[in-house]
Amino acid sequence: MILVTGGAGFIGSNFVLDWLDKLDEPVINLDKLTYAGNLDNLKTVADNKKHIFVKGDIGDFELVSKLLAEHKPRAVLNFAAESHVDRSIHGPEDFIQTNVVGTFHLLEAVRAYWRGLDDEEKAAFKFLHVSTDEVYGTLEKNDPPFNERNRYEPNSPYSASKAASDHLVRAYHHTYGLPVLTTNCSNNYGPYHFPEKLIPLVIHNALNGKPLPIYGDGQQIRDWLFVKDHCTAIRRVLSAGRLGETYNVGGWNEKPNLEVVHTICDILDELQPRADGQSYKSQITFVKDRPGHDRRYAIDATKLEKELGWKPAETFETGIRKTVQWYLDNQAWVENITSGQYLKWVEKQYQ
Ligand code: NAD
Ligand code: DAU
Repeated sequence: MILVTGGAGFIGSNFVLDWLDKLDEPVINLDKLTYAGNLDNLKTVADNKKHIFVKGDIGDFELVSKLLAEHKPRAVLNFAAESHVDRSIHGPEDFIQTNVVGTFHLLEAVRAYWRGLDDEEKAAFKFLHVSTDEVYGTLEKNDPPFNERNRYEPNSPYSASKAASDHLVRAYHHTYGLPVLTTNCSNNYGPYHFPEKLIPLVIHNALNGKPLPIYGDGQQIRDWLFVKDHCTAIRRVLSAGRLGETYNVGGWNEKPNLEVVHTICDILDELQPRADGQSYKSQITFVKDRPGHDRRYAIDATKLEKELGWKPAETFETGIRKTVQWYLDNQAWVENITSGQYLKWVEKQYQ
């Protein structure tokens, strides 16, 4: 059995669904169900006996310790986090609480559990921490992509909190010998992506006749990876990664934001043309830039490819088409989210 945290969020739920689809091993899924956690993502496994969902906080030492003692997982995978950069700018505190303090309490519970295992179980146990390329800061146009030896230079409260969590994980290996693995991934996209992030927001707004907000000049570059490819990378690192190592995960798909939005508009123009015959591009609106906006991220995934033989299955072109189609087929999923709390966020952010 494995324990996954944050498994009701975007990447965590994709990971849990893929895991249960491909493997027989049960999953305990610990998630606080913040605004970003959504049990609708897990509907298809609601009756699956191999999926045990527990609502709770990674920072709750007693709860985590109880779950570990009761289920004796052979691995813990930490996806739980506050993940939206813009929210971290409006209110950093939750990011410090979950990403830093929460990860610390989780590590403490895991360390105590791991120490009490017998030799064989101890040798087999792994803690995998899911992190981001944003910890490396920003790149200039001609800089080489981030590799695992780049310095940490986080620029937002979100990336600083993730950097802090990475450092804690590293220290628990170095000091206590905890068998850890860390993955630093680039921007994900795909099914169940919460519509506050660029790609699902643009699809949702386009279909609802709303502006497609582009921060600043729209020339910021992100390196996009289809979420299922991130999940295969995590499974590969879990099974064969060297303990104490970090692995960068990326799709070699650098794109300026404006190009990403144009591509989405082109696909929507083809699959669901507007009634007035105009392109969805006419909804593009340039808005105030994000404070401290990182200009470019790019990931060098050579280590993961060479050492562990991982390669992404999707290109941006194939992945984005699947994603747009998924949102067209699952508009009810989005509608369930885009009410209440979410509307308040949109009002605050885009006023
Ligand atoms: P998300 O915001 O969609 O989901 C986060 C999940 O964690 C939610 O289900 C939420 O309820 C849960 N959660 C939050 N605080 C919690 C707590 N204290 N205890 C238990 N559960 C809690 O995030 P995501 O995009 O799925 O990202 C997952 C992980 O991957 C994060 O650690 C993020 O930093 C990392 N990451 C994300 C991306 C990306 O492009 N989305 C890229 C690289 C790395
Ligand atoms: O790089 C990995 C990171 O990718 C993850 O660690 C984060 O959890 C994840 O949220 C993502 O961060 P970004 O800030 O890159 O993603 P976001 O979708 O918020 O924005 C992508 C780019 O689009 C970024 O340059 C900001 C821009 N943007 C975003 C929004 C929401 C806009 O131009 N308009 C928007 O309305």
